[in-house]
Amino acid sequence: MLNIAHRGFSGKYPENTMLAFRKAVEIGADGIELDVQYTKDRQLVIIHDESVDRTCDGKGLVADMTLEELRKLDASAGFRGIYGINRIPTLREYFELVAPLKGFVTNIELKTGINEYDGIEQMVCDMIKEFGLEDRIIISSFNHFSVARFKALCPEMKCGFLEGDWIIDFGAYAKKNGADFVHPRYNTVTDETAAEILSNGIGINTWTVNTEDEVRRLYKLGVNSVIGNYPDMAKEVIETL
Ligand code: G3P
Ligand code: MG
Repeated sequence: MLNIAHRGFSGKYPENTMLAFRKAVEIGADGIELDVQYTKDRQLVIIHDESVDRTCDGKGLVADMTLEELRKLDASAGFRGIYGINRIPTLREYFELVAPLKGFVTNIELKTGINEYDGIEQMVCDMIKEFGLEDRIIISSFNHFSVARFKALCPEMKCGFLEGDWIIDFGAYAKKNGADFVHPRYNTVTDETAAEILSNGIGINTWTVNTEDEVRRLYKLGVNSVIGNYPDMAKEVIETL
């Protein structure tokens, strides 16, 4: 079972920043989950919300701002003033960090649920190929049309359907629609749902797994990875399993 750091090591460092990504690597996480959108000038950036208001010292929509404007902001979110200034990373900057790390996995969540970000699937696919990371990436989105678009463009890469609610026959649905994984919210992964998903040959990457008990419970159910804010804790627990 892989230990994937949600928005980087976001329990202790500002989410979706290079600092949180470096710290996840340092403590020995197996991978990182991050959220991707693009700017007004179509530069791929890593940020969770459609607006900068919650995580940055500014206001506005990512889609309405240029990369240059976004890079002036401090994206330290709840950690402002503690770790200096942390800029919104570009996807390119992130790939430069992880490309040399053999076997390190990245779950790219396309934030296409509200804005569709026309063409983002091709842009992300192209950059993955530029860095030769095809076999170390999992693409996911709450927008399953977006996942299907990505899969059609890049069938060799792994893709998963994100979902926060309780879905009947999620495994059969994922299989029918060409996904490799489902990414269900952790509380919806039960004996029954996990068995149905796995019996369809679909893997499970579940979020947001932040307690020792949940890491143990999900391991017993056979999930492929836990995505959580405390990869240090998950690593310790997994080592005892
Ligand atoms: O990809 C797992 C998880 O990140 C999905 O929800 O809102 O944290 O992006 P969110
Ligand atoms: Mg996410």
